Amino acid sequence: MNLVVVSNRVARGKPNEPMTGGLAAALLPVVEHSGAIWVGSSGRVRDGHQKEPFAEIEALGSGAIATLDLPAAHYGGYYEGFANSALWPALHSRSDLIRVSREDYVSYREVNAFMARALMRFRKTRTAIWVQDYHFLALGAELRDLGVDDPIGFFLHTPWPVAAVMQGVPNHRELITAMLAYDLLGFQTEEDRQNFLSYVGGELGLTIEDGVALSQHGRTRCEVFPIGIDAEKFAAYAAKSASHPDVSRLRRSLNGERLAIGVDRLDYSKGLVNRISAFDRLWTEQPQFLRSISLLQIANPSRGAIEAYGNLQNEVARLVTDVNGRHGEVDWTPIRYLNKGFSQAVLAGLYRTAQVGVVTPLHDGMNLVAKEYVAAQNPADPGVLVLSKFAGAANELETALLVNPHDIDGMARAIAIAAAMPLTERKMRWDAMMKKLRGHTIQQWSADFVAELEKCRTDKAAVA
Ligand code: UDP
Ligand code: G6P
Repeated sequence: MNLVVVSNRVARGKPNEPMTGGLAAALLPVVEHSGAIWVGSSGRVRDGHQKEPFAEIEALGSGAIATLDLPAAHYGGYYEGFANSALWPALHSRSDLIRVSREDYVSYREVNAFMARALMRFRKTRTAIWVQDYHFLALGAELRDLGVDDPIGFFLHTPWPVAAVMQGVPNHRELITAMLAYDLLGFQTEEDRQNFLSYVGGELGLTIEDGVALSQHGRTRCEVFPIGIDAEKFAAYAAKSASHPDVSRLRRSLNGERLAIGVDRLDYSKGLVNRISAFDRLWTEQPQFLRSISLLQIANPSRGAIEAYGNLQNEVARLVTDVNGRHGEVDWTPIRYLNKGFSQAVLAGLYRTAQVGVVTPLHDGMNLVAKEYVAAQNPADPGVLVLSKFAGAANELETALLVNPHDIDGMARAIAIAAAMPLTERKMRWDAMMKKLRGHTIQQWSADFVAELEKCRTDKAAVA
């Protein structure tokens, strides 16, 4: 069966460029190897009146990538508005940050309808359509309205919150009813799936049978597909990264001092303020760690036109300046803070240089950085992962040092334990995590989803 993958953000596979987020990073190798067509936004806008959506198509491995200019009149309301100022905060349980107007919802639905029309030209006989993430919750319903009878699946890269939080999203009933036009809904964790099902059962009053929601659209299977990474690729990148100038300069600058690393988009879900506060607490209360461990924090700017992101950028910058001002010395900087991105090949070398990986989101669908940090370690001398128990990755990486990101003291203690952990314990923890990563690759993730999607549609046909 042909496969069309749809997402807002796409990646073009340029090896020297940073990835913008986990979705793009994960789908790139899937499309390169599966021969799928990946349809997404070009990042440019165009007057919405053109008859045929404007698309640029280029090869990507054995697949192809098609990028569309989205309608100018609706792009802001769709991307900065409903998707990232209503859905994103809600999905990460930040109801306090929801800011949205009625026009934003209209724009969101318009862009979903536009994408549905655009997709019609990429369908061949028997095409499975696999939609990614919260930008396109209603795309399946729009495709059904256009008469598409192919299997259509959806995977959510973020968490799904408890029903009371989703009720804070305007038009939530209409939107989540529209989601049931998909044949298959994929979630990162069992908790996300359960939260979704309890909304559908409670708020929409629908019957759930064995993980299948029964609605006006028919049967919608809800399943968990935790996303993986290409661990071997990261291990290979890391093994040959020492010669990269950024990696070798970092190593030379350390003078035997220990390094902790954080790599995040500058997003309020990532817990950057709490993390930096934990380092502050560590250096204040256990001064033996001054000059003995520093933090390299890469914080790639993200969604800068949205007020909450601008505020966060200012808050983190102020905090870093304050902590460095209090704990720094003429020849020692506690936090190296970088507002830019690195390619994954360079990141792998930076991960491997750090004895401690700190991944402490307040909420995260999966968090691929946690997995990449593990995969990039030197098997003979692996570093320690300090991981928030509220990242989806904590379900698999159980032998990381799991922390509560709201507990600053607890995080400071965990960083101290990680920095001093003996080699035998580090190896034991790392081996167990690596086994999980090797047993669950990104290619397996996509093969499992697509196989289940085809099965759902066959079952549906049999019932009809
Ligand atoms: N990434 C990158 N360069 C950077 C920072 C991040 O290529 O400078 C990649 C990183 O390797 C990972 C992805 O961006 O694959 C981030 O995914 P994650 O799931 O950790 O977080 P998200 O940004 O999707 O919330
Ligand atoms: C998260 C979302 C993705 C998104 C990425 C980067 O990973 O789940 O859908 O692409 O963040 O955000 P951006 O808004 O820059 O695409």
